[in-house]
Amino acid sequence: TNPALIRNFSIVAHIDHGKSTLADRLIQVTGGLTAREMTEQVLDNMDIEKERGITIKAQTVRLEYPAKDGQTYVLNLIDTPGHVDFGYEVSRSLYACEGALLVVDAAQGVEAQTLANVYQAIDVNLEIVPVLNKIDLPAADPDRVREQIEDVIGIEAHDALEISAKTGIGIESVLDAIVERLPAPAAGDPQAPLKALLVDSWYDTYLGVICLVRVIEGTLKKGMRVRLMGTGASYGVDGVGVFRPAKVTVDTLGPGEIGFLNASIKQVRDARVGDTITEEKRPTTTPLPGFKPAVPVVFCGLFPVDSAEFEDLRDAVERLALNDASFSFEMESSAALGFGFRCGFLGLLHLEVIRERLEREYDVDLITTAPSVIYKMTLTDGSVVDLHNPADMPDPVKIDAIAEPWIKATILVPDEYLGGVLKLCEDRRGIQRDLTYAGSRAMLVYELPLNEVVFDFYDRLKSVTKGYASFDYQFLEHREGDLVKMSLLVNEEPVDALAMIVHRTRAEMRGRGMCERLKDLIPRHQFKIPIQAAIGGRVIARETIAALRKDVTAKCYGGDVSRKRKLLEKQKAGKKKMRQYGSVEIPQEAFIAALKMD
Ligand code: GTP
Repeated sequence: TNPALIRNFSIVAHIDHGKSTLADRLIQVTGGLTAREMTEQVLDNMDIEKERGITIKAQTVRLEYPAKDGQTYVLNLIDTPGHVDFGYEVSRSLYACEGALLVVDAAQGVEAQTLANVYQAIDVNLEIVPVLNKIDLPAADPDRVREQIEDVIGIEAHDALEISAKTGIGIESVLDAIVERLPAPAAGDPQAPLKALLVDSWYDTYLGVICLVRVIEGTLKKGMRVRLMGTGASYGVDGVGVFRPAKVTVDTLGPGEIGFLNASIKQVRDARVGDTITEEKRPTTTPLPGFKPAVPVVFCGLFPVDSAEFEDLRDAVERLALNDASFSFEMESSAALGFGFRCGFLGLLHLEVIRERLEREYDVDLITTAPSVIYKMTLTDGSVVDLHNPADMPDPVKIDAIAEPWIKATILVPDEYLGGVLKLCEDRRGIQRDLTYAGSRAMLVYELPLNEVVFDFYDRLKSVTKGYASFDYQFLEHREGDLVKMSLLVNEEPVDALAMIVHRTRAEMRGRGMCERLKDLIPRHQFKIPIQAAIGGRVIARETIAALRKDVTAKCYGGDVSRKRKLLEKQKAGKKKMRQYGSVEIPQEAFIAALKMD
């Protein structure tokens, strides 16, 4: 295809502002799908994504649009994920585009992720077309949102399109704007040595690893032998094609085009996103600048509830990792929980998504230990080590200093909830950097220790703002702090899965909170159970679970046998989800619930 007739674009938006609905409409209007096929949102193709309405795997679709000028254009839409944890996938998708549609809900206005995503698009010099969606809603106020886009984001918005992705109003105007307002890709030389960007890769059961590529120069053909310049490995190209959205094979992909190749690559890890693909026998001399690889920032242990399920868990974790190069794992053993895995995630949402997939798709019941961040420990011998697991903390006398990761958080919140958010951030050792207003909403910028965010910051933020706040963050740096390891002892035994690293000033409050919760979560036994939080040998908080005196069924007076039986059955079912610690049984839900703070 002549590059002048190609437009490569992404849609950037805050979660739920209608990105997938718009993408589906564009596919439908250009004839990619029939109305019946549209009943399911096609771009979000995983169960959990559908349920939570989030897009994880970037996907691409090639559309054909006969424009007003009489020419038929090829429009390549690259679907980008909308959530903060998957931010790195947004940036890599943007490198393959010349423009982006900025979709903003005309009733809700600009949100924190809108900002984060659009700034990434601006950073890579994309042309941006603002689109106000959901104008069918009675609460839609396009003029106000236009003004907000100009004030808060700082881009021209007087010619923002007004559409409803749901009812179809204004969809043609979007297609026309893509053709008229977005630039065509640079016209590279199709005869030059091949230079293509590996935009994304994923595992397909039939074809093996599929690589999504953007050709810059030269021509990609089936049968060609290509080399991935970063890894140095070479492969014979088995097939080349495009998504419409179904896979369709094509003979070649030339400059400016986006499509896929499959080449019997075994693992996603071998097809590194951001790598440059060239021809083995006639390589380009100038590889593209690489992406920064996605590094896990949040770690936790995953253990099977039933230790007999360990092999099932191993199998599931290995299969998941096949398709998600940003998910890492290694085997771990815990004195109390037995064998499991220490896993690394891009953020909390990533953790939750993976956890849910393991439980649902692979059918293993899991115990998740406290999420932890990466601490950098400077030891007395001068060496610096990374600590992913509080249980592995070296002897404190060997530690000179501990540094923890800090983030820069941007929070957008309606005025009336500002007080609650300020208090939450202060409680979490936040440092306020900025507070500005856009209409009746405040934009807060805080520096926060990631450690304070990984537990239940989202939940708390949601509850103090009744769900009206939006949140986004980026990693800043590691900073030294007065951090200590706090152990939890149940019946005098330390429970390794509940150990955590906390700031000294917060240890007592946190310890007390955990003891109180565990007291409610652990059922009474035949004997008295002390629950203690300790730093080193010093106990900083303590609760006691009184011994069980009466039989639970005793309170069912009279001869109500069925009620008695029910109670016993309930007890038995509860037992299945317990873990034995020495002589104490701790219910599964206690591990996460104990970490939540009020
Ligand atoms: P992520 O995939 O999670 O990033 O969300 P999204 O931005 O793709 O949002 P999605 O398309 O899933 O839409 C979110 C919700 O808004 C859905 O319930 C849609 O039906 C609804 N919606 C989308 N467009 C419109 C619109 O134009 N009008 C109205 N009334 N609702 C819409």
